[in-house]
Amino acid sequence: MQSNRRSPGNLHVAIIMDGNGRWAMGRGLPRFAGHRAGAESLRRIVETAPDCGIGVLTVYAFSSDNWKRPPEEVDALMELLACYLASETERCLTNGVRMSIIGRRDRLPDSLRAAIDAAECRTLHCNLLELRLAIDYSARDAILGASACAGGEHITRERFEELLGGTRPVDILIRTGGEQRLSDFLLWECAYAELIFTNRMWPDFGPFDLQRAIEQYAHRERRYGAIPPAPAAVHDHWLR
Ligand code: FPP
Repeated sequence: MQSNRRSPGNLHVAIIMDGNGRWAMGRGLPRFAGHRAGAESLRRIVETAPDCGIGVLTVYAFSSDNWKRPPEEVDALMELLACYLASETERCLTNGVRMSIIGRRDRLPDSLRAAIDAAECRTLHCNLLELRLAIDYSARDAILGASACAGGEHITRERFEELLGGTRPVDILIRTGGEQRLSDFLLWECAYAELIFTNRMWPDFGPFDLQRAIEQYAHRERRYGAIPPAPAAVHDHWLR
């Protein structure tokens, strides 16, 4: 049964799922065990996301710079991604989750490209949550690509965002694993994102941590460069 009758939340949350390797090595396991545990963690987060008011969830699964990793790790990640897409499709259909991929596809193995096509096509009609996996993704390359499409014409921000793939601005950017940087992820879309960094390694990041991040966000004041509305007396003072 599909739960598409619920309405989607309006938050766009982006996650840099960092710390898989350290999580595994801290347990005397190979790095790949951390990625496998990371995939499980993502499954749990996707299940919780709609209940947290999230309508779009974009996760960094493989950056264009991750090709620099040892070939065994890259191959294992490609295989894990293909398995994830194939094994999650049924669950996504049941839970109203639409899967889509951002990033370059031309350098991916055929098996992963086939898994992407199938997952995107089968879940196209789902509308409770949009799960966007960034694979072979670089924000700088995405911006360069959109600029090339614009072809030098003077365009609006709205048009540029369409060329970038029609993504909504990110409301909350979460990075696990203790580092505090953006690593070429959604640089345009994060212009006014609230940043939340946690020392928790990604495989340990659970639904409770997601809820806590949303609560932290709820206490932030988003001003977008403006000033907060002041009480009338203060306002009068500055106008005098
Ligand atoms: C960063 O951890 C994580 C990645 C480079 C890959 C992210 C992949 C997953 C969460 C698992 C697979 C995802 C899906 C969608 C199936 P790291 O290896 O850089 O960790 P470290 O900083 O501790 O070395």
